[in-house]
Amino acid sequence: MQLRVVTDQPWDVKADVLVIPYVGEPTFEGPLDEIDRRTGGELRALASFKELTGKRYATALVGAGEIPAGRLVLIGAGDAATIDREVIVRVGAAASRRLGGRVVRSVAFWLAPLAGLETVDGDVAVVAELLARGVVEGSYDPKSIYRDDAESRPPQLDELILVMPDGDVGAVKAAAERGVIMGEGANYARTLSNRAANDVTPDVLAQEARAIAERNDLWIDVIEPERATELGMGMFMAVGRGSDNPPRMIVMRSGDEGQRDALDRHVAFVGKGVCFDSGGISIKPSDRMEEMKMDKTGACTVLAVMETVARLAPGTPLLGIAAAVENMPGPHSTRPGDIVTALNGKKVDITNTDAEGRLILGDGLTYAERLGATHLVDVATLTGAVARALGHLVTGAFGQPQVWYDQVKAAGDRAGERYWQLPLIEEYIPDMESWYVDFQNAGSPEGGLVKSGLFLREFVTKPWVHLDIAGTAYYRKPLPFAPRGATGVSHATLVELALAGKA
Ligand code: BES
Ligand code: MN
Ligand code: ZN
Repeated sequence: MQLRVVTDQPWDVKADVLVIPYVGEPTFEGPLDEIDRRTGGELRALASFKELTGKRYATALVGAGEIPAGRLVLIGAGDAATIDREVIVRVGAAASRRLGGRVVRSVAFWLAPLAGLETVDGDVAVVAELLARGVVEGSYDPKSIYRDDAESRPPQLDELILVMPDGDVGAVKAAAERGVIMGEGANYARTLSNRAANDVTPDVLAQEARAIAERNDLWIDVIEPERATELGMGMFMAVGRGSDNPPRMIVMRSGDEGQRDALDRHVAFVGKGVCFDSGGISIKPSDRMEEMKMDKTGACTVLAVMETVARLAPGTPLLGIAAAVENMPGPHSTRPGDIVTALNGKKVDITNTDAEGRLILGDGLTYAERLGATHLVDVATLTGAVARALGHLVTGAFGQPQVWYDQVKAAGDRAGERYWQLPLIEEYIPDMESWYVDFQNAGSPEGGLVKSGLFLREFVTKPWVHLDIAGTAYYRKPLPFAPRGATGVSHATLVELALAGKA
């Protein structure tokens, strides 16, 4: 997609479609009045039919009248008091999503109504970045993964024209370019996640990672079962044993030693890559089990983040680990009650083979520290409980010390992604004790969400944050700004965090 930034009035721009966002209820003063006049009163007519109501993400497709654009899309940004960065991304996404299925090559987006809002800290360049990212994310459609018919084809946006009355065209263009790359990275993660489990096995994830490494000149090491066993990754191997598709611990690195030494921290991202989570011997009920192909989302996000960071700032020191396995029942599977030794030497009683994410992540986190990571973030579809607690729009997060959590949270704020911190309640640790060894992987269900965080903490000694994306990784039904399926959640947050530099 080509990007162009122009200083112009919206009614002078030529494009297939001109998008006009508006804040609050439509008031026909200033530019909106001018646009209404030039469409021969179309907007006022729509407003009188209550088709232009100010509802957030509601769109109206309007004939352009005298305006040189082919069509207008009006989109509500909603109440000014609650517009934040996330809303700006989603306005961009909802606008481009509205064009899905139509032959639209060039889209012009009028920035002015969303610039200078008190609730969004950042200038017009920041708004341009978020909108451009949204436009790219909004043109994503998972239907095109396995089909190629007209209906499934996403809109072919060849050109995005950002329109502003005045300002620094160069700075806005650079920011929007960053937004496009962010959007493309999120969409790449979404496609990997949406792909079926018979298509994306742990080895296929490793091949994807190799391709990313090659394209972006990154260091890569794929640890296969024999070496994982030798290293002592007992928890990781316990999950992978039941499947014919062998596990892969994928390790990627950017930046050389000199670049790492120049920073006072070395960040690692560890992603849960369960290509299918049947539950193993503790098998899940069949209802909606097909969703468990999405259990690899954390790993897909980490792979995409490695590529996006390399595209935006090559040489940024970063370690990415994707723990890829399939959790299946079978004659070789781990049984409930099996006892394994983790890479860090702790012994675990696997009381529930469906609590597998924490097993593979635990060894992944230990390995990241072995490779020199000083600050860790893991990202995982870890618990159904987080979806019950926070729903599909807010990601649950644990972490310590608080200063590191706060930095991850601040990266989330910059990225326009929402997190809610959950507590690590020490008093629940005894509930996870095992009769035989250090602890069980599941424990009693009360406070299960907290216990998932407590379990992971056993495998880190450095500042660490855990993002539980089980609720936010995919949508069960389409929303105005996203289709059903993988959302790409946390990709932007982790990129922002990696690019933030020093601790
Ligand atoms: N992958 C699931 C969590 C999940 C559930 C992700 C729904 C997305 C949607 C995870 O491996 C799991 O099975 N967790 C169990 C843990 C329990 C056995 C302690 C759960 O949440 O029930
Ligand atoms: Mn599970
Ligand atoms: Zn799982």
